Amino acid sequence: MCYAIPGRVISVDGRTVTVDYFGESRKAHLVNDSVEPGEYVYAQGGIIVGKVSEKDALEILDTWKEKFFELKNVDAGLAAPETESVLSPILKKAESTGTLSRNEMLAVLSAEGDGLQSLYSTANRIRKDNLDNACCVHGILEFSNYCETNCLYCGIRCGNKALKRYRMDEEQIADAVDHAVEELGFKALVLQSGEDPYYTDDMLVDIVKRIREKHGILVFMSIGERSRECYRKLYEAGAYGALLRFEISNPEIYGRMRPGKKKEDRMQLIRDLNELGFVLATGFLIGLPGQTKQDIINDILLTKSLKPDMYSFGPLIPHPGTPLASVEKSKLNDVLKVIALSRLVDPEAKILVTTALETLSPDAGRAALLAGGNSLMINTTPPEFRKFYELYPGKAKEESVDDTIKKTVGLLHSLGRAPTDLGI
Ligand code: 5AD
Ligand code: SF4
Repeated sequence: MCYAIPGRVISVDGRTVTVDYFGESRKAHLVNDSVEPGEYVYAQGGIIVGKVSEKDALEILDTWKEKFFELKNVDAGLAAPETESVLSPILKKAESTGTLSRNEMLAVLSAEGDGLQSLYSTANRIRKDNLDNACCVHGILEFSNYCETNCLYCGIRCGNKALKRYRMDEEQIADAVDHAVEELGFKALVLQSGEDPYYTDDMLVDIVKRIREKHGILVFMSIGERSRECYRKLYEAGAYGALLRFEISNPEIYGRMRPGKKKEDRMQLIRDLNELGFVLATGFLIGLPGQTKQDIINDILLTKSLKPDMYSFGPLIPHPGTPLASVEKSKLNDVLKVIALSRLVDPEAKILVTTALETLSPDAGRAALLAGGNSLMINTTPPEFRKFYELYPGKAKEESVDDTIKKTVGLLHSLGRAPTDLGI
């Protein structure tokens, strides 16, 4: 399985590399490595993460040659032309300018009936016109479900005493990463845990170094609030990605949902991650109690203002072992509207279709990819741990990771999407 197509370096200008993929050129950045024109490389999240020999590259490119163009045609065929609806003036404005007023954003979030289909197909067209058919498929490894924080919405909050806890040690993490990279073919992996101080900065740095010495992959850290210094060391060790949602822009709801935590601290850390050079994924939860449409507009605009490399937002799925057990689950359309609206106001964004969304309906992943979404994550946590990383109910799928990969790639191909990240 292959989640990245090797590209041939055409030119190097300082830290910016121009890479060719079947005659199309894209840009990617160099962090520590150096490359020469003519070499073959893998880019993930706009960063060169590894080199590949010419022989291997040509072999892989040969398997992609026809598929690459075939998929583009399928995608183009599915991108429906403009249809008239009550939302048409707003959608036309978004398509030509990439901006909307707050009132227009509100009208989009309030859309019903016919307006919905034209909204989703416009968002899909904007995605295709700006980003083509590339769809990042990242793996995620949940290495510890201990968390010292007590977010009201989260199944692994420290207050949930009923949950069996686990921590993977360095060896287990290294083995799981080897499997995800060598057997499953991932080129980008998110290392996720609760806020677990058991892992010292040095331990995390060692884990990252060990991975990066062996694998040319993009490592994302998703470990919650650690010091800026900790993240700086992790970047230096070779983890160039960070996933940290701000969760909710409304400060009052934030204070209620995350006892003992300050929104400003989290925002500062997210800005720090950007400054440190991380490929940043951030976003928010949809459906928290008290969150209004105006809050969601603020959530989208705040995400945009952080200039993330990837939007990561999803519906709250109430967990029975949390104080939010009886909150009503979001409806699929409410989440699709947020995806589509984000696409309208940030045409070049990578928008992750989260697994939480996929639990709302068996067809949710497909619907989200056709409403502006263009990135996915696949859980590679070893089965013996996976069921305990229960942020929300229904998260751990019964099927094997191989089956999930097969299904995901099948879905992407049926939509004309290439499961690959080419750069920018
Ligand atoms: N439903 C959906 N998402 C959740 N998260 C935590 N609890 C839930 C839930 N019940 C999300 C948070 C966090 C991410 C790791 O998981 O947004 O940032
Ligand atoms: Fe911990 Fe994150 Fe869950 Fe909050 S959302 S309890 S910080 S794992």
